Amino acid sequence: MKKIIWLSDIHLNLLPKNGIATFVEIIKKRPSDTIWISGDIAEADSVVDFLSTMESEFEQPINFVLGNHDYYLGFFNEVRFKIRKLCSESGRLCWLNDSDVVEVTKEVGLIGHDSWADGRFGDYKNSDLLLNDYFMIWDFNPFVKKDVSGKQSFPGGIKNILSHFTSTQAKQSRLLKMQALAAEAVQHIEMHLCDSLKKYKKVFFLTHVPPFREACWHQDKISDDNGLPHFSCKIVGDTLIRIMKQYPDRHLTVLCGHTHCRAEAQILDNLKVFAAHAEYGIPEIQKIFKL
Ligand SMILES: [Fe+2]
Ligand SMILES: [Fe+2]
Repeated sequence: MKKIIWLSDIHLNLLPKNGIATFVEIIKKRPSDTIWISGDIAEADSVVDFLSTMESEFEQPINFVLGNHDYYLGFFNEVRFKIRKLCSESGRLCWLNDSDVVEVTKEVGLIGHDSWADGRFGDYKNSDLLLNDYFMIWDFNPFVKKDVSGKQSFPGGIKNILSHFTSTQAKQSRLLKMQALAAEAVQHIEMHLCDSLKKYKKVFFLTHVPPFREACWHQDKISDDNGLPHFSCKIVGDTLIRIMKQYPDRHLTVLCGHTHCRAEAQILDNLKVFAAHAEYGIPEIQKIFKL
């Protein structure tokens, strides 16, 4: 039997100085064979350091995906480059975006992908929600400029920036980026899920963004049409449902985070989803699976 500790949205950069040591002790008290993390580990300038710290503190493999916060104050390509370098130099850190199925036991496999909200659930067109993502991830923010030393600045002034972010054109441009990121997740699932299901009776899919409306909660109820477009990924959910209908004798468990609201839903007889609870500054163990 294998014991798996599932973590999500641990936001380690928000902990006080000794917070990481305290959290490490909490995890060490619960013996496990592997640690899974479904994103929002830290931010772009600290996620690599925190993953390195975790690798040095734990002896077990750490399989993870990244969340939107892991890209804050950075560009996607920069963060991904650093994460790939870290994983290539590590024997135990595995970013699931770059991985084939990971064998957990002879009967259980793990795949995963960061994924991204795709604006397809709810009412993106009329949603007035402006997530921090759109300001703090430089690929979404056309105003950020970098000088030769790598320092970022925002030429043009705050007024200019705000009028840009609320424009229809900017909203459409963000949606295209969001859907392109979600399409990467779909491509990964298409490439790896069927093969995983042929080999393993039970497969886990670790991801950051809830792929089903039923897993996307806010303040004790399913998110409304204003929030759903920014917190869920319909195209990933549709892909998982379509594939699992082809494999009725196999089981898929989806583990996601992002909303910080605990949820659990049976989507099909053979497809279940768990969404993680989280509070900034108080990282917690979500579940311990015994497989
Ligand atoms: Fe989070
Ligand atoms: Fe998130």
